[in-house]
Amino acid sequence: MTVVTRRETFCAAHRLFNPAWTDAMNEEVYGACSRASWHGHNYELEVSVEGDIDPETGFLVNLKLLRDIIREEVVSKLDHRNLNTDVDFLAGVVPTAENIAMAVWRRLENKIPSGRLCCIRLRETENNVVEYRG
Ligand code: NI
Repeated sequence: MTVVTRRETFCAAHRLFNPAWTDAMNEEVYGACSRASWHGHNYELEVSVEGDIDPETGFLVNLKLLRDIIREEVVSKLDHRNLNTDVDFLAGVVPTAENIAMAVWRRLENKIPSGRLCCIRLRETENNVVEYRG
Protein backbone atom coordinates (compact mmCIF):
# COMPACT_ATOMS: atom_id res chain seq x y z
CA MET A 1 0.00 0.00 0.00
CA THR A 2 1.34 3.37 -1.03
CA VAL A 3 0.16 6.79 0.16
CA VAL A 4 0.66 9.94 -1.89
CA THR A 5 0.03 13.38 -0.41
CA ARG A 6 -0.52 16.74 -2.08
CA ARG A 7 -0.19 19.95 -0.06
CA GLU A 8 -2.03 23.17 -0.83
CA THR A 9 -2.47 26.37 1.16
CA PHE A 10 -5.18 28.97 1.52
CA CYS A 11 -5.93 32.02 3.66
CA ALA A 12 -9.37 32.55 5.10
CA ALA A 13 -11.32 34.41 7.77
CA HIS A 14 -13.74 32.93 10.27
CA ARG A 15 -15.12 33.10 13.76
CA LEU A 16 -16.16 30.17 15.91
CA PHE A 17 -19.75 30.92 16.85
CA ASN A 18 -22.74 28.71 17.48
CA PRO A 19 -25.87 30.77 16.80
CA ALA A 20 -27.90 28.45 19.02
CA TRP A 21 -25.93 29.67 22.07
CA THR A 22 -25.75 32.96 23.94
CA ASP A 23 -22.76 35.24 23.42
CA ALA A 24 -21.58 34.27 26.92
CA MET A 25 -21.67 30.57 26.06
CA ASN A 26 -19.81 31.19 22.80
CA GLU A 27 -17.19 33.17 24.71
CA GLU A 28 -16.85 30.40 27.27
CA VAL A 29 -16.38 27.62 24.70
CA TYR A 30 -14.52 29.41 21.90
CA GLY A 31 -12.80 32.26 23.74
CA ALA A 32 -11.12 34.82 21.49
CA CYS A 33 -12.02 32.71 18.45
CA SER A 34 -15.66 33.76 18.89
CA ARG A 35 -15.06 37.51 18.59
CA ALA A 36 -17.48 39.19 16.20
CA SER A 37 -14.76 41.04 14.29
CA TRP A 38 -13.41 37.83 12.64
CA HIS A 39 -9.82 36.62 12.46
CA GLY A 40 -7.84 34.72 9.87
CA HIS A 41 -5.55 31.76 9.39
CA ASN A 42 -3.02 30.63 6.84
CA TYR A 43 -4.29 27.09 6.42
CA GLU A 44 -2.21 24.19 5.17
CA LEU A 45 -4.21 21.39 3.59
CA GLU A 46 -2.80 17.94 2.87
CA VAL A 47 -4.80 15.47 0.83
CA SER A 48 -3.61 11.86 0.99
CA VAL A 49 -4.56 9.12 -1.46
CA GLU A 50 -3.82 5.42 -0.92
CA GLY A 51 -3.74 2.52 -3.33
CA ASP A 52 -1.61 0.52 -5.69
CA ILE A 53 0.95 1.83 -8.13
CA ASP A 54 -0.02 1.63 -11.80
CA PRO A 55 2.84 -0.44 -13.33
CA GLU A 56 2.63 1.45 -16.60
CA THR A 57 2.83 5.03 -15.27
CA GLY A 58 4.60 4.27 -11.99
CA PHE A 59 2.02 6.54 -10.32
CA LEU A 60 -0.57 5.81 -7.66
CA VAL A 61 -2.24 9.05 -8.67
CA ASN A 62 -1.23 11.72 -11.14
CA LEU A 63 -0.28 14.59 -8.82
CA LYS A 64 -0.95 17.23 -11.44
CA LEU A 65 -4.54 16.00 -11.80
CA LEU A 66 -4.90 15.75 -8.02
CA ARG A 67 -3.56 19.29 -7.60
CA ASP A 68 -5.99 20.66 -10.19
CA ILE A 69 -8.95 18.96 -8.51
CA ILE A 70 -8.01 20.21 -5.03
CA ARG A 71 -7.54 23.73 -6.34
CA GLU A 72 -10.79 23.72 -8.30
CA GLU A 73 -13.01 22.02 -5.71
CA VAL A 74 -11.55 23.37 -2.48
CA VAL A 75 -8.86 26.05 -2.62
CA SER A 76 -10.67 28.33 -5.08
CA LYS A 77 -13.79 28.15 -2.86
CA LEU A 78 -11.96 28.86 0.42
CA ASP A 79 -9.00 31.10 -0.38
CA HIS A 80 -9.50 34.72 0.72
CA ARG A 81 -13.07 33.97 1.79
CA ASN A 82 -15.03 34.29 4.98
CA LEU A 83 -15.70 30.67 5.97
CA ASN A 84 -18.83 31.63 7.95
CA THR A 85 -20.55 33.55 5.17
CA ASP A 86 -19.03 32.86 1.75
CA VAL A 87 -18.77 29.09 1.32
CA ASP A 88 -21.85 27.10 0.28
CA PHE A 89 -20.46 23.75 1.43
CA LEU A 90 -19.79 25.13 4.93
CA ALA A 91 -23.22 26.72 5.35
CA GLY A 92 -24.78 25.91 8.72
CA VAL A 93 -21.65 24.50 10.36
CA VAL A 94 -19.24 26.15 12.79
CA PRO A 95 -16.04 26.45 10.70
CA THR A 96 -13.70 24.65 13.06
CA ALA A 97 -10.72 22.86 11.51
CA GLU A 98 -12.58 19.59 12.21
CA ASN A 99 -15.65 20.66 10.25
CA ILE A 100 -13.60 22.15 7.41
CA ALA A 101 -11.58 18.93 7.08
CA MET A 102 -14.76 16.83 6.97
CA ALA A 103 -16.34 19.11 4.36
CA VAL A 104 -13.18 18.92 2.23
CA TRP A 105 -13.29 15.12 2.43
CA ARG A 106 -16.89 15.05 1.23
CA ARG A 107 -16.06 17.38 -1.62
CA LEU A 108 -13.10 15.33 -2.83
CA GLU A 109 -13.99 11.74 -1.98
CA ASN A 110 -15.64 10.91 -5.32
CA LYS A 111 -13.33 13.02 -7.46
CA ILE A 112 -9.97 11.35 -6.82
CA PRO A 113 -8.63 10.32 -10.27
CA SER A 114 -7.13 7.01 -9.04
CA GLY A 115 -6.60 5.32 -5.69
CA ARG A 116 -8.78 6.19 -2.68
CA LEU A 117 -8.89 9.27 -0.49
CA CYS A 118 -7.49 8.22 2.89
CA CYS A 119 -6.76 11.39 4.88
CA ILE A 120 -7.48 15.09 4.95
CA ARG A 121 -4.99 16.91 7.17
CA LEU A 122 -5.70 20.56 7.93
CA ARG A 123 -3.21 22.69 9.83
CA GLU A 124 -4.85 25.81 11.19
CA THR A 125 -1.95 27.13 13.25
CA GLU A 126 1.63 26.13 13.84
CA ASN A 127 0.46 24.05 16.80
CA ASN A 128 -2.99 22.79 15.77
CA VAL A 129 -3.64 20.18 13.11
CA VAL A 130 -6.71 18.04 12.42
CA GLU A 131 -6.91 14.79 10.47
CA TYR A 132 -10.12 13.38 9.04
CA ARG A 133 -10.11 9.83 7.69
CA GLY A 134 -13.66 9.37 6.55
NI1 NI B 1 -9.59 30.59 14.17
